[in-house]
This record gives sequence, structure tokens and C-alpha cells, in this order.
Amino acid sequence: MNDANGTSGTNSTNSTPGTNSTPGMNSTPGTPGTNDTDEELQALVHDAMAAAVRSPLRGRVADYIPALAEADPAAFGMAIATLDGRVFGAGDWRQPFSVQSVSKLFTLALALAEGGDGLWTGVGREPSGNPFNSLVQLESEHGIPRNPFINAGALVVTDRLLELTGDAAGAVLELLRAESGDRAVDVNRSVAASEAEHGHRNAAMAHFMAGYGNLRNPVEDVLAHYYAHCAIEADCRDLALAGLFLARHGVRADGSRLLTRSEAKRINAVLLTCGTYDAAGEFAYRVGLPGKSGVGGGVLAVLPGRGTVCTWSPGLDAAGNSVLGVAALDALTTATGWSVF
Ligand code: DON
Repeated sequence: MNDANGTSGTNSTNSTPGTNSTPGMNSTPGTPGTNDTDEELQALVHDAMAAAVRSPLRGRVADYIPALAEADPAAFGMAIATLDGRVFGAGDWRQPFSVQSVSKLFTLALALAEGGDGLWTGVGREPSGNPFNSLVQLESEHGIPRNPFINAGALVVTDRLLELTGDAAGAVLELLRAESGDRAVDVNRSVAASEAEHGHRNAAMAHFMAGYGNLRNPVEDVLAHYYAHCAIEADCRDLALAGLFLARHGVRADGSRLLTRSEAKRINAVLLTCGTYDAAGEFAYRVGLPGKSGVGGGVLAVLPGRGTVCTWSPGLDAAGNSVLGVAALDALTTATGWSVF
């Protein structure tokens, strides 16, 4: 696999994260890609992972999608990508996993890039304060989901992207492949089928919104594209690289512009307030970055103007966010001061 832009800065280690190396940790907080050496960035990843595993908390692997229950609860990886496309990782950072709701960040970016602000008539941008699969607000709020990252909101975004492109899941897959430079990124069809088979809540939400006229495509098509983009498999390296356009204020790996600077700012804002569902306040408090989680155990966080960080560990907390992943991000931003605050 090639690095984005053909850069050769990808460093790797599969060793157990160490606990005693602290380059970069005691220096003035720096900027990935400008102030920090490769060695310092590599050490930051190791140290953040080591800090996370010191806590005994591990969470539980998602099992409401049976195919996800097979994930190894001990898996743990982390990657940091710099604006210039260098990537540093440790642990299981090259192990592909089911991106699940992390894909919603990319569907939103594409829907806004292709269709503009009209999207916001069908989906809000306020935190829901409810679980990602909750139905309760939909009736009182007339079939308009609170935000694009809860499942109901993501279904609306998928519907609009399907209308705009004719192939919503294909558009998300192509964006991930192009930005990561990894053509092996693909949809795991058996995970998508497993979710479809057990997707009664999502189907209920989609039909409910269709009843309010808030879907423009047949419910079955919207669900199929939603399950497919959630079932994309990628590793920490791929996702860290793929998210860099948000750190570059809308500019893609090839230098072309996907989003205006203002659109990128707005997506980062919605990620901060809604990207980790009813734990978004806790995530902002601990990590202080825009971020998106998925029930496959991935978390992708954005350091605007600096880089991205992706963690993966399948043990989830009650809100559906990776326990070790959030802990590692907490440790990284606490040690470095790399936060939007
Ligand atoms: O629709 C679902 O339930 C899953 N495909 C995605 C949920 C998810 O990843 C929530 N994230 N923490």
C-alpha cells in the first residue's frame, strides 16, 4: 500500500507501547508537521497508548450487529497524521476494522460539498443528548433528526448523498481510498448484511422519516447505502490520512478543495458538539478536539491546522465510544496541549 502523496514518512511499530520515553512530552506544545520530529511524534503515540492501558477500564465489544461481536476486545492501535501526510502509529494501527459511524463524517462532508447548505433543512446540528440509535425525538421534532451523526441524521445525509451522486456508499468509499492512498479499503459485505438483518431500529427510523417526507429515495435504498458505508473496513493509518482534509480546512491530499474553509470549520464544530453522541460533552472535556466515533471501536479526531489522530479499540463505553481510544486521545491532548481550547 502507498502513502498519500507518495510520501515515505509512514513509521510503524507493533511493539507494546513503552512507558518511559517522553520526547516531545516535556517540550513546549508543538505542531505536528512543523515543530516535531518523527521520533517525537512516534513517542507521543506510544506514550498515549501506554497511559490508556494503565487504567483497568476496557468497555464491551458491540454485539447488536452480530458480525461486530467477533472483534478482538484486546486490539488497540493508534495513528497520528501530519498535514504533510506523514503518519506514525503503534499497536494494531495497521489492522483494518469496521469504521461504522466514523463514515458519517465523510458522508456529511460529501453531501455538503456536492449539495451545499440545503442539507440543513432536513437535519439539525444540535447535540441530541440521546443515544445514537434513539427514536424519541423524531416524533416531537417532526421527522427532522437533531444532527447528522445520530443514526436518523446519518440516514438523511445518506439519502441526500444518494440523490446527489447516485451511489452514496461508492462516493464515501472512493473518498476514503483517494485520501488514504489505499485502494484496499473496501466494504465488508457480510458486516453490511449482518446489520441489515438486525437493523430494525434503523429501518423504523427511516420509515418514520419517510412518513414525514424527509427521505427522497426509497427506504430500502437509503438503508442499503447506509449499511454499506458503515461496513467499510479501514485501519488507523487510512482513517487518519482520510480525515486530513478537515485539518487542512477543506483541502484534499491532492491539493484540490473539497470544502470551503467555512464548511470545514462548520463540520469540525458539529463533530465537537455531536460526534460522540450523548458523551460529546465528556469527550470535549477530556479530549478537546472535534472527533467521530464508531461502534467498531474507531475514533477519528481532528487537530485543525495541525493533523489528525485515529485510535481503534473495540471495547466501548455505554455511549458507544471506544474506552481505550478516548483514553489515549485524552492522554495525548493533556500531555501536548493539542486541543482547540
Ligand atoms: O447504525 C448503526 O447502529 C451502526 N451502523 C453505526 C452506529 C455507530 O457506529 C455509533 N457509533 N458510536
